[in-house]
Amino acid sequence: MSDVNELPDDGLDDLLASQRRFYDLRAPDFADVTKLTDRKHRGLMPTTEVRAIVDDFAPRGDVLELACGSGGFTRDLLRHAHTLTAVDGSARMLELNRDIVGDPAVEYRHVDLFDWSPDRTYDAVFFGFWPLAGETHATPASKQTV
Ligand SMILES: C[S@@+](CC[C@H](N)C(=O)[O-])C[C@H]1O[C@@H](n2cnc3c(N)ncnc32)[C@H](O)[C@@H]1O
Repeated sequence: MSDVNELPDDGLDDLLASQRRFYDLRAPDFADVTKLTDRKHRGLMPTTEVRAIVDDFAPRGDVLELACGSGGFTRDLLRHAHTLTAVDGSARMLELNRDIVGDPAVEYRHVDLFDWSPDRTYDAVFFGFWPLAGETHATPASKQTV
């Protein structure tokens, strides 16, 4: 399999940077169903569904959450994890997560997943994605080897 760093760029770095910027700009209204949206459908995943997904996975020990966003899954991961590290490429989304989840036990890291190598191991990794209709930026297949 090719190393992702050896693949031709083809503007992917600009595209990925635009995704991070997109979430920085969206953060103030993200997860607030009273605010105008650029999406076809409003709303968050029902909390009972989120809980069922996380409880089914039941991650124990030191858990890493990738692209935690506003915290749709973070709070429920905390119910299982011994420690939880939540990473995201948008500083503002991390701030929002901290405000919403409000638990000092979460360690937040501002990282670009395509440039980041963890400096330790974890017992479980969770990468949730609550797909909201109207999202226009699919991750390029050639960069999906993280
Ligand atoms: C739709 S949100 C999903 C958040 C959460 N996982 C959920 O399902 O509710 C996508 C998140 O991915 C983050 N993200 C996008 N590109 C990233 C990158 N290159 N590195 C780290 N995070 C990134 C965004 O900042 C955003 O918070």
